[in-house]
Amino acid sequence: MNAPVDFNDRMLSLGLARVTEAAAIATADLIGRGDEKAADQAAVDAMRTQLNLLDINGVVVIGEGERDEAPMLFIGEEVGTGEGPGVDIALDPLEGTTLTAKDMPNALAVIAMGPRGSMLHAPDTYMDKLAIGPGYPQGVVSLDMSPKERVEALAKAKGCSPRDITVCILERPRHQDMIEEVRSTGAAIRLITDGDVAGVMHCAEPEVTNIDMYMGTGGAPEGVLAAAALKCMGGQMYGRLHFRHEYERNRAAKAGISDLDKIYSRDEMVTSDVIFAASGVTDGNLVPGVKREPGHLTVETILMRSKTGSVRRMHYRNPRSAG
Ligand code: FBP
Repeated sequence: MNAPVDFNDRMLSLGLARVTEAAAIATADLIGRGDEKAADQAAVDAMRTQLNLLDINGVVVIGEGERDEAPMLFIGEEVGTGEGPGVDIALDPLEGTTLTAKDMPNALAVIAMGPRGSMLHAPDTYMDKLAIGPGYPQGVVSLDMSPKERVEALAKAKGCSPRDITVCILERPRHQDMIEEVRSTGAAIRLITDGDVAGVMHCAEPEVTNIDMYMGTGGAPEGVLAAAALKCMGGQMYGRLHFRHEYERNRAAKAGISDLDKIYSRDEMVTSDVIFAASGVTDGNLVPGVKREPGHLTVETILMRSKTGSVRRMHYRNPRSAG
């Protein structure tokens, strides 16, 4: 009998890259075509097919939604051949459906995998998020601080003026006060229209992205995916679930969450080592998007393991049949 495979198996992590590559490739002919649903469906189908080829006994804990809302990759769906290690999976086959439909930057196909119980089962609600890159003292910024205090504290820790800090924020009416308060410090703001997984990841490589801090409210499932990415890349992240309706609170309770006001640190959202893969769909600061060339497609993937801190960038050329 073969020895049981550790989920952290190096070959298995390479298999994970295939999963996001497949999802990104499936969107190739739908980038910039104005059809969000078709792009999302193509990514979901392809991701699910590839995931089911992996020798894992997987359960989707962050997925496309509740079973009654999402026919595929729903929360609780079992994936993989059932032959390998028991793993939890957080995924977003197309993070940035509108970005894809409009061919705007930073749409990604994203997945994280860890042992059972390794990731917060975040319900499909909002989350208040705050992230910074590596190299700062733990807790230098917090969700309990005002946006102004966060900028000032980060500038002090970085040894610069608030004017030299750039904050990434989702452009939403709900963030108007936050935007004004951050501007009052002199800091710059990179407004993004969607895609806060990429927004948070950008904090981990400020020398590439020029972003020092991410703040604002976005999807809770995306928050857990972003925490998994930062656990691999380094950096701090905090999240607090944000409920707009009673049924969202009920969802949280159903997911086993009792303290609804809790502030989760990165390592409370992702409690043990994980593997993370993201493939570029549209061009982004961290990974380029899918390129359509005569006869082939190319896809870039970032594949990371938190156990080793390894970050691998893979360039995949996929022959495409004439059609
Ligand atoms: P989709 O890919 O599902 O469209 O989500 C994109 C996104 O921008 C996320 O990155 C973000 O967390 C969330 O939507 C923000 O939600 P809202 O659009 O309701 O402000």
